[in-house]
Amino acid sequence: MINNLSPENIMHYVKTNIPLDITVHKSVTSTNTLLKEAAQSGAKEGTVIVAENQTMGRGRLGRSFHSPADTGIYFSILLRPKIDPNDSLFLTTSAAVATAKAIEDVKDCTALIKWVNDIYIDNKKVCGILTEGAFKAESSELDYAIVGIGINLKTPDGDFPDDIKNKAGAVFSKDEDITDVKSKLIAYVLNYFFYYYENLSSKAFFKEYKERSFLLGQEISILDSKGPIPATAIDLDENCHLIVKLSDGTIKELSSGEVSVIMNSVLQP
Ligand code: BTN
Repeated sequence: MINNLSPENIMHYVKTNIPLDITVHKSVTSTNTLLKEAAQSGAKEGTVIVAENQTMGRGRLGRSFHSPADTGIYFSILLRPKIDPNDSLFLTTSAAVATAKAIEDVKDCTALIKWVNDIYIDNKKVCGILTEGAFKAESSELDYAIVGIGINLKTPDGDFPDDIKNKAGAVFSKDEDITDVKSKLIAYVLNYFFYYYENLSSKAFFKEYKERSFLLGQEISILDSKGPIPATAIDLDENCHLIVKLSDGTIKELSSGEVSVIMNSVLQP
């Protein structure tokens, strides 16, 4: 039966030639944390940890990632990339495109990307991605990188917590049956992601990343320690840096950090 979340059911849909070692857990602290421990103990590229629930799901910038049971999927992919560490952002951006495309394969919707790594449907964040890595001892080469992806499939019973409920959304509505979707969606993400990963040097993901980047052309706020700076997002360069124009006409290139979009007078970080 192809309807429950399991390694076998995920593998049923997997097409990549990269050997995968997938485990599925009911509940973990964080799939990224678990996979980091596995990486430090020598786990191979292609190790994937999936969980139906995380008790300490982690987000970017030290935030937590709300990861309730049954309504989302949470998984992390271990990579041992032989790339310039400066290009490690492309792992995140490839994962964003892979996830957006996979979501559209299982649900009739348009999945857009908020630079750098959030997926939005109908102005609501439905997915976050956290990439973490470590260098080899006494070297500037990457030892491993972990790409962690969390997708809200449904709105949790009783809604999202107050601090995120204005911006968080889900791929499916409450009454849709998602039992058959979980394994398929993870497999589709893996298929797209490993295609982009194998073609990272040609930036195969970039065209699609840019097309899906909904910040372009928008009035945004750059979050700064001194407060928000208003700007217009005008372009993305091939390094996935966001090119913005400040109100005095200055052009700036943002390589990281948080950008807020101004929509209906609400700041959405
Ligand atoms: C963000 O939106 O700030 C990033 C969220 C990343 C969440 C995923 S869920 C799977 C993996 N394990 C974690 O603890 N975090 C990532």
